[in-house]
Amino acid sequence: MDSLVIEGPARLRGTIRVNGAKNAALPIMAAALLAEGPSLIRDAPNLQDISSQIELLEKLGARTQRRPDGAMEITVQDENDSHAPYELVRKMRAGICVLGPVLAKRGRARVSMPGGCAIGDRPIDIHLRGLRALGATIHLDGGDIVATAGRLRGAEVFLGGNFGSTVLGTANVLCAATLAHGKTTIECAACEPEIADLADYLNAMGARITGQGTPRITVEGVDKLTGCEHRIIPDRIEAGTFMVAAAISHGQIEIQNVRLDHLLAAVDKLRAIGAIVEPSNGGVMVAAPRRLLATILTTQPHPGFPTDLQAQFMALLSIANGNSIITEKIFPDRFLHVAELARLGARLHREGATVIIEGERTLIGAPVMASDLRASAALVLAGLAADGITTVNRVYHIDRGYEKIEERFNALGAKIRRVDQTQVE
Ligand code: EPZ
Repeated sequence: MDSLVIEGPARLRGTIRVNGAKNAALPIMAAALLAEGPSLIRDAPNLQDISSQIELLEKLGARTQRRPDGAMEITVQDENDSHAPYELVRKMRAGICVLGPVLAKRGRARVSMPGGCAIGDRPIDIHLRGLRALGATIHLDGGDIVATAGRLRGAEVFLGGNFGSTVLGTANVLCAATLAHGKTTIECAACEPEIADLADYLNAMGARITGQGTPRITVEGVDKLTGCEHRIIPDRIEAGTFMVAAAISHGQIEIQNVRLDHLLAAVDKLRAIGAIVEPSNGGVMVAAPRRLLATILTTQPHPGFPTDLQAQFMALLSIANGNSIITEKIFPDRFLHVAELARLGARLHREGATVIIEGERTLIGAPVMASDLRASAALVLAGLAADGITTVNRVYHIDRGYEKIEERFNALGAKIRRVDQTQVE
């Protein structure tokens, strides 16, 4: 199992390009199952989660191919197998987003119920409520969700829950509604840019969707969708992680292929604590010449502060001047990084879904354990700022969401080595 050995502190400088968004690519790849004919998806990143999704699509009868220019072609060849089994969905929860497309196109779907994960319970009750509202019959059998329907019927569907809307639940219902008979109105839809990107892809295939990016999405059902070409939006969480890398290392990074309008809350916080964030050469320049200030931050559904940047900002605020407060309102247990950051000397006090951070001047390198994707990113960022050697173990988590992270940070002046820990032990 690989580890990253980080020699800190580093002051990162240079230019870095953001890849296409993993969390847009995953539901878009699943939506390709709705189409007649091939779809060409551009800018899908090269990540473990994308490979897992490819494996799942192939199990479901699609042929996928990466062209030499990196574009991914997806063509459905056989619609007989509608079963997304446990071995595949277990590896990657986003496998659940094949449910809506397969059900709508094939009239039946059997998808393993994803379990919980390091960041919490991750229920899917709202997905199922939404699909039932469109006329699906759903029951559970041997840990699988078994859904059947004749042609789905347009309906008014409410997707609100105790923690706001649901991103992948909105993706599932949106995909299903494209081929339903009549009009669907999704109320309390997720407003995340990844959902708007999915809707843009579906529209390019012939769907009739309006209101994407707002809490009310309207879908006029059509009889057929046709494969098309689509470019995935830049990954706002990767971009936000690079912004924190610039700030935590007191460096200066120009970030290319970034949509600042997708990152308003994170940019607002960075500026509020004293970082410089300025448009530059079609991208954005982020710098932090001085020690940053403390702040209060609460995660929320988009356009609020994203939960997927919470851990990275906790690393950053652990060396800010003063006491900060972070409250997690999407996944109240998404705090596995707290104990690991504490091993580096961060002074963190958790009370339920809130963490109080007493800013320290420096962190000190230590061995730490990655627990989930964003927590791992936070540990790498903290390692860049810490004095001495930080070894981030179980780094496969980070490979699920960030392509060649050590090579890209090293190109900015970091000193990170990937080692096979099993050979060291
Ligand atoms: C997506 O997960 C992302 N994953 C997550 O990113 C991200 O953290 C999350 O949205 C929130 O922004 C992908 O896009 C692949 P939700 P998703 O359904 O859709 C509750 C990363 O690091 N809920 O929007 O599974 C749920 O428990 C990953 O890249 C229900 O109660 O998240 C949570 O509190 C991790 N019932 C809230 O809603 C449901 O049926 C939001 O979850 C569904 C969700």
